[in-house]
Amino acid sequence: MKETAMLGKQIAIRRATADDLPTVHDIVLRALRETNAKDYPGSVINRLVLTLPEKISSNLETWHAFVAIVDGRVVGTASLSGDTVKSVFVDPDYQRSGVATKLMSAVENVALAQSVRALNVQSSITAQPFYAKWGFKIVREEFFGEERTIVMSKAIPVAPD
Ligand SMILES: CC(C)(COP(=O)(O)OP(=O)(O)OC[C@H]1O[C@@H](n2cnc3c(N)ncnc32)[C@H](O)[C@@H]1OP(=O)(O)O)[C@@H](O)C(=O)NCCC(=O)NCCS
Repeated sequence: MKETAMLGKQIAIRRATADDLPTVHDIVLRALRETNAKDYPGSVINRLVLTLPEKISSNLETWHAFVAIVDGRVVGTASLSGDTVKSVFVDPDYQRSGVATKLMSAVENVALAQSVRALNVQSSITAQPFYAKWGFKIVREEFFGEERTIVMSKAIPVAPD
C-alpha cells in the first residue's frame, strides 16, 4: 500500500482469536506468493504455501498471538512462543506502513513482561532488514534444502522496578 493511502489511518493491535484463523491463513498465503516469492525460488514457495499457512493458523491459539487491524480489517499477525518470535506476516497491500512495527512492539512488551532476556527469531531473507532495524543480530544461517533462513537474536533490556 502506498504510504499516502495509510496516512491518518490507525493501526490497532489485539490478541488473535479463533475467528481470525481464516484471515491469518490467507495473509500468510498471499505474503508467501507476493512478497517472499521475490527472495526464494519457486520450488521453496510452492512447498511453503502447502504447509506454512496451515501450520501458523493452527498454532495461533497456543502461541501468544496478535493481529493488526486497519479500517476494521485484519492486515497482519505476529506471535511469541516462549522466547521466540513467530509468524510475522503482513498483508502485501499494507506492507511498509508500520504494521509489523506495531505488532513487534506488542510481542516485545509480552517478552519484557515475561522476563525474557533474549528474543530469538528464525527470519526469512525477506524479513532480515526488518528484524535488523529492530536490533536483532545474526546468529547463524540455516538451510532447509534451498530455503535459507537467518537465526537472529536480540537482548531485551531488563524492566526497571
Ligand atoms: C517482513 C514484514 C513482516 C515487514 O512488515 P511491514 O509491515 O512491511 O514492516 P514495517 O512497515 O513495520 O517496516 C519497518 C521497517 O523495517 C524495514 N523493512 C521492512 N520491510 C522491508 C523490506 N522489504 N526491505 C527493506 N527494509 C524493510 C524498514 O526499515 C522499515 O521502515 P521504513 O518503511 O520506514 O523504511 C513483511 O515484509 C512481510 O510480511 N514479509 C513476508 C513474510 C515474512 O517473510 N515474514 C517473516 C517470517 S520470519
